Order: sequence, then C-alpha cells, then structure tokens
Amino acid sequence: MMEVEICNVKFKNPVIAASGTFGFGREYNEIFDVSKLGGIVSKGLTLNKREGNRGIRIFETRSGVMNSVGLQNPGIDEFIKYELPFMLKLDTVAIANLGGESIDEYIKGAQMLDNTRVQFIELNISCPNVKHGGMAFGIKSKVAYEVVSKVRGVVKKPLIVKLSPNAENIADMAEKCCEAGADAISLVNTFKAMAIDIKKRKPVFENVTAGLSGPAIKPIALRMVYEVASAVDVPVIGMGGIANYKDAIEFIMAGASAVQVGTANFIKPDICISLIDGIRNFMETEGIKDLEEIRGIIRR
Ligand SMILES: Cc1cc2nc3c(=O)[nH]c(=O)nc-3n(C[C@H](O)[C@H](O)[C@H](O)COP(=O)(O)O)c2cc1C
Repeated sequence: MMEVEICNVKFKNPVIAASGTFGFGREYNEIFDVSKLGGIVSKGLTLNKREGNRGIRIFETRSGVMNSVGLQNPGIDEFIKYELPFMLKLDTVAIANLGGESIDEYIKGAQMLDNTRVQFIELNISCPNVKHGGMAFGIKSKVAYEVVSKVRGVVKKPLIVKLSPNAENIADMAEKCCEAGADAISLVNTFKAMAIDIKKRKPVFENVTAGLSGPAIKPIALRMVYEVASAVDVPVIGMGGIANYKDAIEFIMAGASAVQVGTANFIKPDICISLIDGIRNFMETEGIKDLEEIRGIIRR
C-alpha cells in the first residue's frame, strides 16, 4: 500500500512536489497527470505580491543548483482567486507554502489561507533569500517558537513547519516547533551558499549568498531528517536532493512519512512519476505491503 496518512489527510502515495519548483502545478499538468502525485506544494506565498530578487536567480553548480528567487509570488489574494481553484481541481493534496517578513505578516497570511479549502499550510521559516524575515525565523529556536505558536493560535488547518538546515540545532528546532503546535515537520530548505564570478571579481548573486539544493545536499539532508524523526512524535516530511526512488526510500527508512522533490523536477519534469513507479516496484520485489514496515527501520 503506497497510501500514507499525515494529520488525518490521505495521500495516495508519499511523493509530493516541493515548493518553488512546481509553480502551482499548471505547467507540469500539461506534461503529465499531476493528480497521480501524493501532493503538491504551492510556490512560497506572502501577504503581498513580490517581484523577487534582482540579478541572477538560478545558478548551476557541479552537483546542485543555487537559487536566489526571493519569494517571487502573486500574493495570497491573487493565489486564492486564480491559482488555488486550479490546485484544488487536481485530485491530489494541495499544500500552501507561506513565507513572511514579520510575525504579523505570517499571522495575516495564515488566517487568509485558513479560510480556504487548501488541506495544509506549510510554514516556511527557512527561506535564505529574503533580506528580512525568512530564514531569520528558522535559525534560533526561540524565534521559531514565537512565530509558530502565534500562527498556530489563528489557524485550524494542519500546520507543517518547514525547517532550515541552517538552524543552530535541527533536532532542538524541531522539538520547539512541535511544542509551539506544529502538526508535522518538513525539512530541509536550501543551504546558505556562495558562488563567485572570477572574471567580474564579484559574487554571482546580488545578495552575495544564495540557497543550495539538489544532489549535493542529499546526505546532509538525510542525516537531518533522521535526527528530527528521532526527536519528535509528529510526522516528518523529508526532502533535499531526492532524484530517484532509492533516495526516497532512504528518507523513509530514516523516518520520513513522505518525501518532497524539488530540484530534480527541473531536470526531468515527470521525475515524481518515476519515483512513484520505482517505490511501487521496490515494494513488490521486497515484499513490502505497507510503507509503515520500513519507515524509520534503521532506528529499530
Ligand atoms: C528555484 C527554487 C525555489 C524555491 N522556492 C521555495 C519557496 O518558495 N518556499 C520554500 O519553502 N522552499 C523553496 N525552495 C526550496 C525547495 O522547496 C526545497 O526545500 C529544496 O530545494 C531542497 O530540495 P531539493 O534538493 O529536492 O530541491 C525552492 C527551491 C528552489 C530550487
């Protein structure tokens, strides 16, 4: 059985498209049937429309991608009017990813999303590419506690809190977010990283640093998912460099209930379908009836 249940919501399989790499599902749905996925996460949303950062936004490295998009998005109002109806029409779990520059902005955004039919809010306290806010909330667990508990206070929907790998102590961060009312934890967002254009003698990115994702981060992300899954009782959604079904199974064995796929969508747009097929075949050949049999198995 590939079905997984997270916070009483059924996912037809454990493969979810990650925020910022899948838009709102529209373009991908022209390439393959997006309703075959376990779920999709919206691009990071903020209360007001954002144009995003200036300069280069995506830069390829030998083993991953650096991005400095800066939460470009149409704003929550526009999302609710024009994008969410489409997401909800797809027969898959719809998750809204929420960013912000202040606690107040997170609260207002969460209230607006709570009044929609979106199934989850994923609170992004981990974006390294916005100057104010973003990752600042995801480094110190005391600050994270404050934002999560305030948002929790105004929303009824299940709340996933998305952690930054740049947190001072990832397990402590996850525990504090759960104390504050997180119903699930997702991790990791991108790693703060840097690239220099030696001809220009300048950093590649206007903000000097940018977020690294893709194959380079997988072993570190996997270790962090293992540590967090060992520390908390809520479901954990793992991501970071997942590019094939074996990577996904590793995250599940480390304790993840589901996985998200980001950068790999850029390389092969229907990669999530290959993952679903690969996991199904693996289960058949290994005689696994339910993913619960292997979830967190390396700790048993
Ligand atoms: C171009 C790009 C844009 C992203 N935008 C967001 C975002 O808006 N909100 C968010 O929570 N994560 C965002 N992420 C992070 C991904 O959702 C994911 O956490 C990260 O890339 C690690 O997974 P991966 O290695 O499979 O890409 C973005 C990543 C990329 C590459």
